[in-house]
Parts: sequence; structure tokens; C-alpha cells
Amino acid sequence: METEKVKVCVVGAGRAGEVHALNLSNRIPLAELTAIVDQDLNLARQLSEKVGKVNVYQALGDALKKEEIEAVFITTPTFTHASLTLEAAEAGVHVFCEKPMALNLEEADKMISATRKNNVKLQIGFMRRFDPEIRRVKSLIAEGAIGRPVLVKSLTRGPGLPPKWALDPKTGIGMIAEVSSHDFDSVRWLMGNEVKSVYAEADALIHPEFKKEYSIYHDVYVAILRFENNGIGLIDGGCPVGYGYDARIEILGTEGFIMVGDVKGSSLLLCKSDKKAVTETFQSWRNRFYEGYIGEAESFLRAIIEDRPPEVTGEDGKKALELVLAAIESMKENKPVQLPLQ
Ligand SMILES: NC(=O)c1ccc[n+]([C@@H]2O[C@H](COP(=O)([O-])OP(=O)(O)OC[C@H]3O[C@@H](n4cnc5c(N)ncnc54)[C@H](O)[C@@H]3O)[C@@H](O)[C@H]2O)c1
Repeated sequence: METEKVKVCVVGAGRAGEVHALNLSNRIPLAELTAIVDQDLNLARQLSEKVGKVNVYQALGDALKKEEIEAVFITTPTFTHASLTLEAAEAGVHVFCEKPMALNLEEADKMISATRKNNVKLQIGFMRRFDPEIRRVKSLIAEGAIGRPVLVKSLTRGPGLPPKWALDPKTGIGMIAEVSSHDFDSVRWLMGNEVKSVYAEADALIHPEFKKEYSIYHDVYVAILRFENNGIGLIDGGCPVGYGYDARIEILGTEGFIMVGDVKGSSLLLCKSDKKAVTETFQSWRNRFYEGYIGEAESFLRAIIEDRPPEVTGEDGKKALELVLAAIESMKENKPVQLPLQ
């Protein structure tokens, strides 16, 4: 039913909250944005002004009491995801939760069981699965275009530092989780298989001074994944790189390879008599995955309306989280880590 709308509330009026609130209010007819929650009411008010005035609250509980909310978009720091998901699920509200799903696997399990028990949907924010080109790659692999995938490489570099809470082990999981949760999900999804071991190397090579503040701080890293089918995954990450937002994937199969993603964010090319050709990079994840953010929100709302499982489930979120946690354990122990994690 194209005219049906789902009443949604965005919880967290920061960077990701803004992207979702703008999409839900302006670009997705299936959504009716009814409220914005942020513990900093000024931020909630500012975002409300940008999207065209909706009610604002300081806590999810207040919004749930006062508004008729059918779904929440949780766009707060990682350490708040589990408690907010449980609160929404117990109120019978569907949950879209940003990555990384939670701080640890116990929290992820609680989120999965609370949403299941209360019969509400849980989708995790892996918008790359909704990027039109990456979706096409998944279809090409399924059609056998490159034979059997044997190596999946995924690279992400971010232009600037994420918020401080993401780097502090009390409130976040660290850079690899903040920047590359998406890569772990993409590699697993495109290989179509489960990972049996993870080995990671990481260091603070761009900002070594941050190691004094956060013992787990790293800004350049690689992770090698070994799949149950013996396929290999390779994740390469760095942040902050300054030059732009860079996300690229390559899949080698037994009968060919596919590359997707480009560091160039524009077809504009400036050529001058100095014989240089200059173009632009993507400035941010916001414009690189513009369509992906709209696609994932639409798909979540359709799952609610059509009462079908979301395309990216809580279990997918937990698997990606397990891979990130295994990579961090491997960085600390300097050896491959076997899955499942104990
Ligand atoms: N999918 C993506 O590409 C993408 C991009 C950026 C961020 N994220 C994810 O989105 C989440 C938020 O990241 P961000 O960069 O927007 O963070 P942010 O710090 O910019 O914003 C978080 C907001 O949440 C608010 N907040 C904190 N605790 C709260 C609570 N209990 N109730 C209500 N509001 C609360 C803060 O005041 C802040 O305004 C993280 O999980 C992050 O990993 C995803």
C-alpha cells in the first residue's frame, strides 16, 4: 500500500541522526517523522528546524509516552544502543539501529531477543547493502558472473576523526568498529559464507599521540578473514586521511573479478595548460552513500508494512560485531582469533 505511512522517531540528533531525519522527512513518502529525541535538547531543536518542525524530547521514554510512534531510528553512540533498543521493543516499537550494533555480544543477544519477544523488527544500519552498484555486484555474483568468489577486499578511509565517544573504550569500540563495521558486513555478505578466523594488524601511525589518551587507539589497520569455505577476505582501513571518503570493493572469483567504488566523487575534470588533470573526491559518507541511506530506510519501513523480515537483521549486526571484536582481540594478542568468540 503506497499511501501507508509509518510514524517514526529519530533518537540522536548528531551526524547520522541528521542524515536519517532529512531522508525520513523529505525523501521517503513511506515515513512520517513525528519526533526527534536528543539528550541535548538544543541539538534536537536545531534538527527539528532543519526538517520542518517536529516535536522534540530529551529522552526516548518521554517521546514514547507522548507520541504515537511505530518505529525508532537509533542514531546515538554505541554504548546506548542496547538500552534504547530494549526500551523501544518493550513499548512495541520497531527498531532501526545504527552500526556497530552494540558494545559486546551479550548486548547484541539482548537486543535480538527483546525485539523477537515483542514481535517487532530489528534492522542494523548497513546502508552499503542498499547502494545500487553494490547491490548489482551481489546479483552478479549470484548469477555466477565471476564463478565462485575466492577473495573479497574492502577498503574504507575516512576524511576526519569520528566523535570522541567512538574512540573511548568505555563508550565505543574504536576506529576499526566505527569506520569498518561496514567492510566486515560487506565482505561476509558478498562472500556468502561465515568467517572462521580473523587476523588483524593495526597501529597509531597518523596520530600516535592519541595512544596516550586511548590505549586501544589505532588509525591504520588491515584484517585478514578466513571463511569456512576457505575463501579469503581482506579489510584495509585508515582514518583520518584528509583526502576524502574512500570506499572501494574488489571481488576475485574463479572466472573473473568485479571492482566497485571510486575515490573520484565527481565526473568533473579540470585540465589546464600545466598539463595536470584535477578532479574531486567524495567529501563524506553522506554523499558517497546518499542512495544507500534512503534505500535502507525505505526497505526497513516496507518490512514493517509488509510484515516481512528486514533485509539486514539483528543476527547480521551481531556477526559483523563479532568480526570487529575478533579483529581487536587479534590486534592485542598478535595472532589469528578463531570464531565463534568465547
Ligand atoms: N551508517 C553510517 O554510515 C554511519 C555514519 C556515522 C555514524 N554512524 C553511527 O551512528 C551512531 C551515531 O553516530 P554519530 O556520528 O551520529 O554520533 P554523534 O555524536 O554525532 O551524535 C550522537 C547524538 O546522540 C545523542 N545522545 C547520546 N546519548 C543519547 C541518549 N541516551 N538519548 C538521546 N540522545 C542521545 C548525543 O547528544 C548526540 O547528539 C553511531 O552508532 C555511529 O557508528 C553511522
